[in-house]
This record gives sequence, C-alpha cells and structure tokens, in this order.
Amino acid sequence: MARNKIALIGSGQIGGTLALLAGLKELGDIVLFDVQEGVPQGKGLDIAQSSPVEGFDARISGTQSYEAIAGADVVIVTAGVPRKPGMSRDDLLEINLRVMEQVGAGISKYAPEAFVICITNPLDAMVWALQKFSGLPASQVVGMAGVLDSARFRYFLAEELGVSVEDVTAFVLGGHGDTMVPLTRYSTVAGIPLPDLVKMGWLDGKRLDEIVQRTRDGGAEIVGLLKTGSAFYAPAASAIAMAESYLRDKKRVLPAAAYLQGEYGLDGIYVGVPVVIGAGGVEKVVEIELDRAERQMFQKSVDSVEGLIAACRKIQPSLA
Ligand code: APR
Repeated sequence: MARNKIALIGSGQIGGTLALLAGLKELGDIVLFDVQEGVPQGKGLDIAQSSPVEGFDARISGTQSYEAIAGADVVIVTAGVPRKPGMSRDDLLEINLRVMEQVGAGISKYAPEAFVICITNPLDAMVWALQKFSGLPASQVVGMAGVLDSARFRYFLAEELGVSVEDVTAFVLGGHGDTMVPLTRYSTVAGIPLPDLVKMGWLDGKRLDEIVQRTRDGGAEIVGLLKTGSAFYAPAASAIAMAESYLRDKKRVLPAAAYLQGEYGLDGIYVGVPVVIGAGGVEKVVEIELDRAERQMFQKSVDSVEGLIAACRKIQPSLA
C-alpha cells in the first residue's frame, strides 16, 4: 500500500515541528510548503537527515508550488503570521485572512479530497474562512485549538496533583481565545470529576480557579516568554493527534473547532466542541449538556467568534 501524503502549508515554527512529528510517527510522506524560498526545502532536508537515526521512512520535500501538494490525504495549515507580545490572536485577522484566501485556492485546486486541519489564528475565524475559500465540505475542514487548550489544562492539573498526565482528561469548549470555556465537571483524574476532587480535599478550589485562568492565558504566557513568536511544540503535537485519528480511522473524541449546523443551537459558524474524527473526517459533533453558567460562558465565547467572523466578512465581502 502506498504511503499517505501529508502537506504542510506554512513551514515556520509549527510547520517544521509538524514535519518532524509526522516523520517520527511514520504518518506518511511529507511536503512542506512556504512562500519563503529555501525554508521548506532546508527544513525538509534537515528532517530527512534525521530519519536514518530515528529509523523512519518518509519522503520529505519542500516547495513553493501548490502543485506539489496534489493528492494529499491531510493538509495542515499554519501559514500566516504569529503573535508578538502585546498582540491578541484577533490582531492577526486581516493579514491572515488574505493568506487563507491563497491557501484555500491552492487546496481547492490540488487537494480537494484532503482532510484539512487549520491552526492559523485567530483560529475559529480562520478555519471558517478557509472552508469557504476552499469550498471543501465542512466535515473535511476543522480547526485545531481544543486539543491544545485541554492539553494545557491537563498538564497544569497533573503538575498540581502530582499525577501522570495520562490519567488526567480535560474538556475545553468554545473559541480559541480568552473566552474559552474549560469545563471542570467534565474533566477528570482517573474518571473522578474535578468538583469531586475538590470535595475530597485533593484539589483546592481556589487553585482550580487559578489553573482554569492559566489555561485561558496559556498561549499568552508562552508568547510573553518567547517574545519573538508563539507556542509551537504543543500546537504541532495536538494537530498531529487529529491527523492520526483521521488517517488511522481511530475515531477519537477530540475537542476541535467544527462547523455547526444546528448543534448547540448554532448555525453556520465554527467553534470548539467535541467531535469524533475518523476516516470520514468530522464524523459526529457531540452535543453535551451545559448548565446555566457553562452556557453563559459558552455564549460569550460564541459572541466573540461571531464578532471575528463579521470582521472577516467586512474585509472580504465575497465571504458573506
Ligand atoms: N503562504 C504560505 N506560507 C505563508 C504565507 C502564505 N501566503 N504567508 C506566510 N507564510 C509562512 C511564513 O513564511 C512562515 O514560515 O507561514 C509561516 C508561519 O510560521 P511562523 O511565523 O514560524 O509561525 P508559527 O509559530 O508556525 O505559527 C503559525 O499558527 O498558532 C498559529 O498564531 C499562529 O497564526 C500563527 C500560525
């Protein structure tokens, strides 16, 4: 059987890490695309030269031409500009919207059968625009945010409790921004919901609130430390988990920015919800029950995503 093909549009910090992880996991052959000449070629060659050491087989190439992504099974999009200190994800909107237009056209022409994972920020608006620009079915276009946000939440909880990250599950809903909704009662340690851990006295309620806030600010914390860009290792790992679930038809239940058509009472927008990802792309949107406070937080997050989508429509009226 021929290997799968993974196209990475954008070969910056996240793109390079995606290529390395896809190689290490032997997900398939890899094409790195970037507008910057030499960068995808150089990173591709460097990673290919690690393959004899790590023991993986993959053809890895770099390109400036969309033709090279032809027939890709998965396309992961990181093209655009990342945040600098003091910038919000929303500040990136106008410039990255233009980038999505080019990327959408390239995917539509050369890889219309692919499962597309968007990482470019502001995530929920960019994945919405990318789906429209590409014209691909909404079940084939998804945004990576929830896996990363819940990974941050899981890591902070595991660190606080002194337990393995493997035994912590966490659930984050809503847009990828300051209004994201970490859902404590759906997050567990070995199946025990966090509110029960608080009752048991294992987790301090105030510390939990602080961890929730640190999760919301997780991206900004790293931007503040790096100063010249934003997080890339954990975002890349998160997108690879989604790609793997698709390619291996694992049908994992993962939080992702998905297109809603009536679920959660919303229509025509992308927002972070739990989905099943398998060979059919987004095979199911899982609708969980929210209590009043959770619904209010979710609505605030949805309002902010809707604001960004409205801003996209203003910049590019063809998106209406
Ligand atoms: N087409 C293809 N690639 C492009 C285009 C374009 N039109 N415009 C910019 N790029 C490339 C840049 O040349 C750069 O190599 O996208 C790459 C982005 O890489 P980085 O600047 O290193 O950014 P990165 O940290 O990888 O983040 C990418 O993901 O998490 C989000 O907010 C983040 O929007 C940002 C994106």
